[in-house]
Amino acid sequence: TKNWTEVLDSNFLPDDDVVGVDVEGRQLALYVVNGEVYATDNICTHGHARLCDGFLEDYEIECPLHQGRFDIRTGKAMCEPLTVDLKSYPVKIEDGRVFVDFG
Ligand code: FES
Repeated sequence: TKNWTEVLDSNFLPDDDVVGVDVEGRQLALYVVNGEVYATDNICTHGHARLCDGFLEDYEIECPLHQGRFDIRTGKAMCEPLTVDLKSYPVKIEDGRVFVDFG
């Protein structure tokens, strides 16, 4: 079963971009690509950089510090210097609000 946490009013979602949200002590990154919303942890697994300050291209977010790239759909680390995948989370939009399942 899902354990949905409300994280944002959907009016604050960007268009084909990434936004950082702090919710319940977590730092979350929300991405919108082709009208779909994705969620991952916001802190890079390599160093202390916020991915919401990085560069989103298609389904990949590039870390602003050393240009490591993650697939935002799965959190998979795509290139060096990354060795650890990012956590990704299920997302749903309901009644104009964004919910994330942190598991
Ligand atoms: Fe993200 Fe190094 S801190 S690639």
